[in-house]
Amino acid sequence: MGVFLLSSPAFPGVFLFTLINLCLIPELAVAGITRHYKFDVNFQNVTRLCHTKSIVTVNGQFPGPRIVAREGDHLLIKVVNHVQNNISIHWHGIRQLRSGWADGPAYVTQCPIQTGNSYVYNFTIVGQRGTLFWHAHISWLRATLYGPLIILPKQGVPYPFAKPYKEVPIIFGEWWNTDPEAVITQALQTGGGPNVSDAYTINGLPGPLYNCSAKDTFRLKVRPGKTYLLRLINAALNDELFFSIANHTLTVVEADAIYIKPFETDTVVITPGQTTNVLLKTKNHIPNATFFMSARPYVTGLGTFDNSTVAGILEYQYSSSIKKLPLFKPVLPPLNDTSFVTNFTAKLRSLASAQFPANVPQKVDKRFFFTIGLGTSPCHKNQTCQGPNGTMFAASMNNVSFAVPTTALLQAHFFGQSNGVYQPDFPTSPIFPFNYTGNPPNNTMVGNGTKLVVLPFNTSVELVMQDTSILGAESHPFHLHGFNFFVVGQGFGNFDPNKDPANFNLVDPIERNTMGVPSGGWAAIRFLADNPGVWFMHCHLEIHTSWGLKMAWLVLDGKLPNQKLLPPPADLPKC
Ligand code: C2O
Repeated sequence: MGVFLLSSPAFPGVFLFTLINLCLIPELAVAGITRHYKFDVNFQNVTRLCHTKSIVTVNGQFPGPRIVAREGDHLLIKVVNHVQNNISIHWHGIRQLRSGWADGPAYVTQCPIQTGNSYVYNFTIVGQRGTLFWHAHISWLRATLYGPLIILPKQGVPYPFAKPYKEVPIIFGEWWNTDPEAVITQALQTGGGPNVSDAYTINGLPGPLYNCSAKDTFRLKVRPGKTYLLRLINAALNDELFFSIANHTLTVVEADAIYIKPFETDTVVITPGQTTNVLLKTKNHIPNATFFMSARPYVTGLGTFDNSTVAGILEYQYSSSIKKLPLFKPVLPPLNDTSFVTNFTAKLRSLASAQFPANVPQKVDKRFFFTIGLGTSPCHKNQTCQGPNGTMFAASMNNVSFAVPTTALLQAHFFGQSNGVYQPDFPTSPIFPFNYTGNPPNNTMVGNGTKLVVLPFNTSVELVMQDTSILGAESHPFHLHGFNFFVVGQGFGNFDPNKDPANFNLVDPIERNTMGVPSGGWAAIRFLADNPGVWFMHCHLEIHTSWGLKMAWLVLDGKLPNQKLLPPPADLPKC
């Protein structure tokens, strides 16, 4: 049974729970089962790089517990907050059909869970299978609060590729020797860039290339001649990553829990918020060597990055104990290798088969054009700020830097109390068009507000996201809550509405929930607004989110009873 293979000493608690649950499944069950999880958010001492810190964890685990479910299952996850911080958890990539109350972004779909309180996230996994993850969605708490969310196909339904011998989650993260909450608080006070993390991690471990870290190395022991499914998850806060395993080729089979047309590569590009499943075929004979699996950042623009590499070790069973074996290291692309990223991205195509069709919206009801990029905001009176020319860093979409409300948008909408909370007038295109990727304008100041786009139920949306060069062009991994979208086109420079749509791929474009909008370029996405609720959209570089690179869509109820947002649960937190 597939789930047994997901066992790993790193995540024992929830795994046992899942095992017990799965043993209760009748072999041919079609409807999903209900799975209960309990997330106790508490402090735990964790040591990395010779620094011991008390960090916020779920159930004392770092990374957090793994959720394993099947398509169709109903999840009830009780989150109990035992720490001083306000908490909320997001199930990244879960569509949350009509269950927006369980989506998680603080002040968007819910007020955060306050100290001593709890909330049950209650949702059903509909029409999805693959690798996703969960993470805190308030401030920078996701630095330590994150874990895999694995959705197996329904019982008896195979993968569209040969059954792997084992499945292994590989979750990338970032480690700070200091408190990440202090890092973001300081950055927002001074207006400057945040202190960069001290290490990247694989399954919470920085690996041997950092000082005082060799014992904290992820080791993957494999057998020869087998196929392993690696479930890659980028939970890092601020960096897109290159990932490669020395002397081994990877076959990419899934992105953001959507099957794709398989292709081979030595190196995978993965942005924060993205997940990628790859097949690793091990060598037929045990080699007299061990192999690094390494990740390091892909950086454009200003970048918030640390020029270092996390490494784990791939070792063949029975080989390492005999003698000290040579260690091979992969060659990763240069830090700023945009052409590698462009070539990799171009290979990503939906499977678009009869069983897994690509339902690309063919007609468009509403078109939107959003600029995305950094800018500045004025320094507080009598203060000197550390952003560009004594200002504060900020970020905006269509020059609106999102102001986080003090109550949740979804409640305000549902109870008809939006006055003073948000305005339904997010601009559909820039108010003052300019040469977005040309010489930056003199005025880099952003405006701000809590503005939403309101969409009638079932609106077919096309959105072009255009990077700006205001403080330097930069790649932005954009994430949409509540939907997958199709990436129908992308390019460099300014989007040309007369020429570019002719080249859109409406047949087998990649379908996903997070995409890297090219540095100094644009991307066109389409989605059908068939899920009523308030849906956050933001750059998944956490510092950009903190600076305001976020907005929300309000999708109204449809006419039919099954097209309406369900009422909020009784335990929904209050602000
Ligand atoms: Cu993975 Cu809004 O987040």
